[in-house]
Amino acid sequence: MRALVLRVESFRIEEVALPELQPGEARVRVLAAALNRRDEWIRQGRYARIQYPAILGSDGCGIVEAVGAERDRAWLGQVVIINPSIGWGENPRAQGPAYEILGMPRAGTLAEYVHVPVDRLVEKPPHVTVEEAAALPLAGLTAYRALFTQGQLQPCQKVLITGIGGGVALMALQFAVAAGAQVFVTSGRPEKVERAQALGAIGGVSYRHPEWERLLRELADGEFDLIVDGTGGEAFNALLGLTAPAGTIVVYGATAGAVPSFNLHRLFWRQLRVVGTTMGTDAEFAAMVHFVTEHRLVPVIDSVFPFERVGEAFERLRSDEHMGKVVVRIADG
Ligand SMILES: NC(=O)c1ccc[n+]([C@@H]2O[C@H](COP(=O)([O-])OP(=O)(O)OC[C@H]3O[C@@H](n4cnc5c(N)ncnc54)[C@H](OP(=O)(O)O)[C@@H]3O)[C@@H](O)[C@H]2O)c1
Repeated sequence: MRALVLRVESFRIEEVALPELQPGEARVRVLAAALNRRDEWIRQGRYARIQYPAILGSDGCGIVEAVGAERDRAWLGQVVIINPSIGWGENPRAQGPAYEILGMPRAGTLAEYVHVPVDRLVEKPPHVTVEEAAALPLAGLTAYRALFTQGQLQPCQKVLITGIGGGVALMALQFAVAAGAQVFVTSGRPEKVERAQALGAIGGVSYRHPEWERLLRELADGEFDLIVDGTGGEAFNALLGLTAPAGTIVVYGATAGAVPSFNLHRLFWRQLRVVGTTMGTDAEFAAMVHFVTEHRLVPVIDSVFPFERVGEAFERLRSDEHMGKVVVRIADG
């Protein structure tokens, strides 16, 4: 099969042998895969415990072509999405030591075929296209746990989602709007704030504006009950000030790096909760797919590239010009 293979010295499509299918596994012919920032961090060598060679890709939608055990035959021919969260463990509050994310070290979806445990398969929601379905799993799962489990979002709460051009952020916007929250956003680009408004956000500001914190406070007429942040960096101390007393900040990423001089005084004086989140449990994945289906939510696709142009898809992700998911179409079907 053809797969995008990351080696220490190269990153290109290569012909590789399909491994033997094990009992309990399914072979999925990948129709579309979606990129996540994780793929780019690994490509740059900026991710923990990278193993080479690697086939990246945590998100995919495809057709089940073979199963390793007779008992799983019912899956054959089904169009599925794949839960990339593997081996979470028994404790819903945090993943266990055996936890892994599909797409390094386990071979991922940026290939013509991927082998996954059968219990990672979920039927494609009927109302979305193959590309939209491929865009859903990782960002949808992360956004769902961030908002509803870790953030305990309640209808009518005032929510801020930072960096709205990002895949997780946009999914969080769609979920929060569907749940009845009042949603505000930040972005580096004014046109992305406008797109967010079209998706139901009340408004937003540019985090590049020197007075963005004041502007946001005025726009929202006060502080936020819940902030969902994947950026960290210097702006994080301002987020502590923008959270209502006893409010919550859920952190799922640190694109802008560590927080210099973390403002502990704001944290304790305002009785804040800062909660980390990563991916989610199987129950959260099922609940997320149910929520998406029930509300007929459609993941926002920025662009779709054919497999041969996967390098351009990574460039698009790096550009930060994207709004929504960058998808790679691997096969017709
Ligand atoms: N914990 C987990 O399970 C998990 C899961 C997924 C992702 N992540 C992490 O979360 C982060 C985002 O991932 P993603 O896949 O959604 O990324 P993405 O689609 O590549 O989006 C990143 C976004 O970050 C925003 N951004 C950049 N600098 C910013 C700043 N200074 N302030 C506010 N926003 C800024 C940009 O938004 P604008 O374009 O609007 O400016 C950009 O679109 C990454 O660090 C990733 O590793 C963690």
